[in-house]
Amino acid sequence: MAAGTFAEKGADLELVGITKTFPGFTAIRSLDLFIPAGSFFALLGPSGCGKTTTLRLVAGLEEPTAGRIVIGGRDVTSTKSFQRPVNTVFQSYALFPHMSVLENVAFGLRRRGIAAPLDKAHEALRLVELDHLAARRPGQLSGGQQQRVALARAVVNRPALLLLDEPLGALDLKLRRQMQLELKDIQTEVGLTFLHVTHDQEEAMTMADTIAVMNKGEIEQMGAPEELYELPRTAFVANFLGQSNLFTGEVVGSTPDALTVAVGGQRLVIPSQRAPRRTGTVTVGVRPEKLLLLTSEPDAGSVTASGTNTLGPGRVIDVSFSGVSTQYTISVPGVGDVIVFAQNMVFGPVVHVGAEVWVSWNVEHGFGLEDSPEEAAAGAAEAAAAAGADGDVATSALTTVRG
Ligand SMILES: Nc1ncnc2c1ncn2[C@@H]1O[C@H](COP(=O)(O)OP(=O)(O)OP(=O)(O)O)[C@@H](O)[C@H]1O
Ligand SMILES: [Mg+2]
Repeated sequence: MAAGTFAEKGADLELVGITKTFPGFTAIRSLDLFIPAGSFFALLGPSGCGKTTTLRLVAGLEEPTAGRIVIGGRDVTSTKSFQRPVNTVFQSYALFPHMSVLENVAFGLRRRGIAAPLDKAHEALRLVELDHLAARRPGQLSGGQQQRVALARAVVNRPALLLLDEPLGALDLKLRRQMQLELKDIQTEVGLTFLHVTHDQEEAMTMADTIAVMNKGEIEQMGAPEELYELPRTAFVANFLGQSNLFTGEVVGSTPDALTVAVGGQRLVIPSQRAPRRTGTVTVGVRPEKLLLLTSEPDAGSVTASGTNTLGPGRVIDVSFSGVSTQYTISVPGVGDVIVFAQNMVFGPVVHVGAEVWVSWNVEHGFGLEDSPEEAAAGAAEAAAAAGADGDVATSALTTVRG
């Protein structure tokens, strides 16, 4: 990295129409992305969707087939990797084994002739709370500690843009959760722009200000974590980021406030402003934790008045306990399987397999997809396949029936 690329603060990153084609395979398809300076941005997607390729393009390790890369307002598309104000932390952190922790961190500064490299290295080690181990060699550290040294080594260069490619992948779950919080703190403290790549949805939600969900070389949806979670626009996002119950049916009523969809002889209402498609066959969804299990049929009058959707009666076909909550699978004739997550309260009602139940939810919690019915079915299947290929993504709830 040239001395002139030393940053006091983060820079914007803009990708304009980026396409990357390898012989016989297009990994990235006309990708547009804007990451504001100083933000913590997560690129989230299943294995093979193009995350690492995107980072390599930004870092200048790979040349785009088409499109422009702009960092801090400067077009860097044709500049060399070392001329870009960028540092990358990879999953394998590759510290120099024969050097002390301190020398590992100071290495890049020395090479660039930066003044007081050891003072700056100590400062970076303090940031990751490892200054007391500065004299050790990497082999004398735990995996998590080595990971933090790798981070200090990247941060000490003060790159305007720090790229993180699954940097916590090698850590066990507990350490990983701890590092996620620390990484977020470090980013807030140094104020640089972080672009973090992960296939772990919980990791993305914990750390990022903005998440872009990527699928097959394209961004499906981008927004704040809560926004993506509460209002997913595609079946893929609805089932890759958490789980969703999806119901496909015909629109039978539309007012400025509400959309009514017939699903398997039952009627579901969602707020119109949460429904991108308002005619024909649409897919609507609701998160499993938003559902209430009822053991008797709710009074129809009170249901409508209070803005509640009800499905049922159905039968409990599976109950699975997972500590904090219990997952119930309800088979509703004509509708399909509905997943309910219920918190485990000490005095709550317990429902067993075979019980007759109804499920209900507040109309405000429903959402409509912009997918066509065919896209919704394909997207749900892709999310399920991604979940199946990857242990840490929960199995998706697939209730895509035609009404
Ligand atoms: N040099 C290459 N030649 C051909 N295909 C490539 C090359 N590099 C990557 N690909 C393909 O491009 C796609 C995207 O790869 P990439 O490494 O970006 O995925 P990823 O999202 O980082 O996945 P993971 O989560 O598994 O790391 C993959 O299908 C991969 O096989
Ligand atoms: Mg990768």
